[in-house]
Amino acid sequence: MLSKRDKLFLAAEHLGCLSCPVCGQALTRSGDDLACANRHRLNVNRKGCLNVLSQQVDSCYDAALFAARRRVFDAGCYNAVANAIEALLPPAQHRILDAGCGDGWYLNHLLSHHEDWHGAGADISRDAILQATNLPCTALWCVCDLRRLPFADGSFTAVMDILTPASYDEFRRVLAPGGLLIKVYPGSGYLRELRAAREMEAYEEGQVDAYLREKATVVGEQRVTVTHKVSPELWRDFVWMTPLMQDLSEAAKDALASRPADTVTIDLHVAACQMT
Ligand SMILES: C[S@@+](CC[C@H](N)C(=O)[O-])C[C@H]1O[C@@H](n2cnc3c(N)ncnc32)[C@H](O)[C@@H]1O
Repeated sequence: MLSKRDKLFLAAEHLGCLSCPVCGQALTRSGDDLACANRHRLNVNRKGCLNVLSQQVDSCYDAALFAARRRVFDAGCYNAVANAIEALLPPAQHRILDAGCGDGWYLNHLLSHHEDWHGAGADISRDAILQATNLPCTALWCVCDLRRLPFADGSFTAVMDILTPASYDEFRRVLAPGGLLIKVYPGSGYLRELRAAREMEAYEEGQVDAYLREKATVVGEQRVTVTHKVSPELWRDFVWMTPLMQDLSEAAKDALASRPADTVTIDLHVAACQMT
């Protein structure tokens, strides 16, 4: 069985797209490192994680959030979203970047259904990428900033941007000609029970939608709206998995978790776009 580090090197070889964050030259394997022609070196750790950030970034996206998120995914609450993404991708061999991949669940879903597809997952949160490296798929997991991706121009046939701030210029740069951006963003009913529990208004979906259509041409779209019945345990995981609660203390999250609703609504727009 391949080690996590070897899986990363294999994925990097298949994709052939890594570029040095210092000088932009191609990076290739050199022992346990990646190195470029100008002898800049980056370590790939034993956990199969490549980190190109010069300094660690603090965020609300921590290990507890991703552990709860994984349980919500494993309960099947986002299966319809993953299926919608898959249905919007043309039946070809793909090189996919999951930009802001979080714990990598969507990329793993796609790669596990398509043996000849290759993928990279990029996220600024180290906790996210460490969780992603536990997944069975062979992918290039990288801690980096979406505003400065360590990938050569035209590297990917598809970029997924799922509930993550967009970096449209970088997405355009790393997409191959004719490549697709898959953008997933909230509809007004998304997590409405959790928002109601905090007396928050519904999501305002117009702004993201208008900005997307300014930057790209939507060539296919689906709206996924499903209301799931949830157990008190799953409600608790929803409370802990969403950045909606990032301003709350642990005690306040636990208090919300102790007043469960019976259902949680997933309402997401899934759009396939050509960058303009
Ligand atoms: C709401 S989560 C979505 C994660 C994943 N796409 C999903 O749907 O489960 C947003 C993700 O964007 C990442 N993120 C936010 N800003 C980023 C940036 N500048 N560069 C890379 N990742 C970023 C966060 O670390 C987090 O994992």
